[in-house]
Amino acid sequence: MKTHGLLICALTIAFSLAAENALTAASKEKVILDTDMVDSFDDGVAMVILANAPDIELLGVTTVSGNSWVSEGVASALRQLDIEKQTSVPVASGLNLPLRSNRHELFSLERQVFGQGDDTWVGSFGYPDPGSWRKVYLERYGEEPRLAPIDQHAVNFIIDTVRAHPGEVTIAAIGPCGNLALAVRMAPDIVPLIKRVVYMGGSFFQTGNITPAAEFNFYFDPEAAKITVRSPFKEQTLVGLKVSEKVIFTRDHYDGILKTLGKSGQADLLRASFLGKSFEADPNFTFFVWDVISAAIIIDPTLIVKEEHSYIDVNDQYGLSYGQSLAFREKNPPMTQKANIVLDIDENRFWELLTDRKYWASARD
Ligand code: BDR
Ligand code: CA
Repeated sequence: MKTHGLLICALTIAFSLAAENALTAASKEKVILDTDMVDSFDDGVAMVILANAPDIELLGVTTVSGNSWVSEGVASALRQLDIEKQTSVPVASGLNLPLRSNRHELFSLERQVFGQGDDTWVGSFGYPDPGSWRKVYLERYGEEPRLAPIDQHAVNFIIDTVRAHPGEVTIAAIGPCGNLALAVRMAPDIVPLIKRVVYMGGSFFQTGNITPAAEFNFYFDPEAAKITVRSPFKEQTLVGLKVSEKVIFTRDHYDGILKTLGKSGQADLLRASFLGKSFEADPNFTFFVWDVISAAIIIDPTLIVKEEHSYIDVNDQYGLSYGQSLAFREKNPPMTQKANIVLDIDENRFWELLTDRKYWASARD
C-alpha cells in the first residue's frame, strides 16, 4: 500500500514536470539558424547565445558556404554545440556553392573588375574546399567528433521544420541565402508559415565590405538573396552594415568576454581565432560582430533603438553592383517586400548580454 502511494506520488511529479517542460517549450521562441559557421566570432557566438538563451528553442542549425565551406561549418557547429552541451540540436549540411555557376573560379576576376570593399576577408572564395567535415574536425580539434550531422539536407530540414511548427519559426539567416532560397522555391507553402526572417545581410546606406557596392552575405549568392527578400514573408528584419559597423568590438569587450568565459572550451576557441590572435597582438585592434547582433535582437528585440521600414531588393545583374542591397523609401519596384532595416541598437545592453553567463553554458562548469 505504502509502495503504491509512493508510485502515484512519483508519477504525479513526473507528469507535472513533463507538462511544465512542454509548456515552457511551447512558450519559447523557435529558431532555425542558417549559417556560414565559424569558431567563436561571429557565427559561432551567434549560435552559442541562441542555443543557451532561456527563452529560445534552437530547433536546428543549417550550414551554407560563405564565411567557411559547408564541411568546415558543420565541424565547427558540432564542436561548439558539444562544448556547450547542446548535443540534441540537429546540424544539417546545406548548399556548398552559390546558385550562379563558377563563382569560385571567377572570384579573382570579379575582384579585378568589380573592386574591393572595406574588408580584405573573402571567406571560402579564397581557398579550396577541404571536402569532409570529419577530416576538418580531426585536423582542427585533434580528436574524433562525438556528434554528427543529421542525415537530411538543410533545405529539407528547413521545409519540414517550418511545416511542423506553422507560424512559429524564426529563421536567423546569418550567411548567404542559398538554403532558404531553395527551401521557398521547393516548398512555397512554407513562406506564409514562417514567423519572420532575421538576416545579417546588406549594405543599405553604406559602402560594401566585399565590393564597394555589396555586403559579403548578399554578394556571395545574390540570386538567392533576391529570391528570399522578394518572398512575401510575414516579417523580414535586416541587420546590415549600417548598424554592424557602428558596434565596435574593442579589447575591453574582448577581455570582458574572456573573463566571463573563464577556463571554458569557448575561451580556447576565442583565443585561437583570428580575432583572439589579433587582440593579443595589438590592444588597439578593433573588429565587427555582425551576426551576433542578429542573434541578440532575436533574444531581446528591445535592443533595437532605431529601424527603418522600406521596400528592399538585391541587385542580381552581373556587374559593378552585383549583390548590392537596395532600399526604396517611396516608389518601389513591383513585387518587392517591405522590411525592417535595423539602424541602431542599445550598445551597452548588447555588450552586457554578451558577458552574461546564462548565454555560455560551458563557462558555468
Ligand atoms: C557577414 O559575412 C560573414 O563573414 C559574417 O559572418 C557576416 O555574416 C558580414 O558581412
Ligand atoms: Ca555569417
